[in-house]
Amino acid sequence: MATLAFDRQLDQVAEAAKRIPTADARELAALKTELLGRKAGILTRLLRQLPELPPEERRAVGARANQLRRELEAAFEARESELKRRELEAAALDLTMPGRLRWRGAVHPVTQVVDEICEIFRELGFTRVTGPEVETEEYNFTKLNISLDHPAADAQDTFYLGPRLLLRTHTSPMQAHIMERYPPPIRIVVPGQVYRRDAFDPSHSPVFEQIEGLVVDEGISFVDFKAGIEFFVKRFFSPDTPVRFRPSFFPFTEPSADVDVQCQICKGSGCPTCKRTGFLEIMGAGMVHPAVFEACGVDPERYTGYAFGMGPHRIAMLRYAIPDIRLFWTNDMRFLGQFVD
Ligand code: PHE
Repeated sequence: MATLAFDRQLDQVAEAAKRIPTADARELAALKTELLGRKAGILTRLLRQLPELPPEERRAVGARANQLRRELEAAFEARESELKRRELEAAALDLTMPGRLRWRGAVHPVTQVVDEICEIFRELGFTRVTGPEVETEEYNFTKLNISLDHPAADAQDTFYLGPRLLLRTHTSPMQAHIMERYPPPIRIVVPGQVYRRDAFDPSHSPVFEQIEGLVVDEGISFVDFKAGIEFFVKRFFSPDTPVRFRPSFFPFTEPSADVDVQCQICKGSGCPTCKRTGFLEIMGAGMVHPAVFEACGVDPERYTGYAFGMGPHRIAMLRYAIPDIRLFWTNDMRFLGQFVD
């Protein structure tokens, strides 16, 4: 083979070698076989053919061919180790990979509200206690001065489990349990679920949360009652939230009041939620009826007290402008996710 043809082929090899620094692993392997393959590699073949050249030309061409082979080998090695390094890095940490979201549990919005309410009363010296959801007629009604003729005791409104046994319709039975078991002074809050035979609708549910409050001591007056409730409302809502006590009736308190706070949705100007009154009821309350003290073994001549019962579901709805109470039970993460902090 003539030197010229030899040189031209070496030029081709040099040209092909320019692809080495940017080749991927596949191309690199193919290129290596093509140029340096032991049998059919172009450069390998050329080197094998060197002896066919005239001796005087063989030296220069041979030097160039060998030089090219060394360069090629170095270039392949550099590219191979570069690709290897990248592969190792990719296996260790792929910064382009989307992150995996960790599932986090969170406290239900109503539980958050319950905790917050109990915490405010704790500052006033109240102890948080809980009690049974299954009650007797005696504790749910009789000891609270509710006669069994009262509509609340009717099987239409109450889930009876058996004769005289029922799911509590309010947390008030715990007033009786605590007064029977502990001497005054008493300051308790009792969160828990209560049950009523109501169908689900936007503002009713057959099961819902209540927080009962009870204070019993010597010299507790209506002023203490109002001050305690107002402290709570202003702490929970805001210091300038108007509070209203409306005369009401409960068999176990006398006098009784319904406590309203300014509607948080329209700020008092009147809207469908507050039925244009500017106020929303948040609890029933009053001074403990002497008949309840007597039924629970507390001397009504010596002690007075106040009690209240509020609905955290309602309060949560009011605070967060939630239109439908059923949202609290459907466990829709789009709803619940808004209350994760
Ligand atoms: N138990 C009453 C209810 O469920 C609320 C209440 C509690 C009222 C304590 C007065 C005192 O409606």
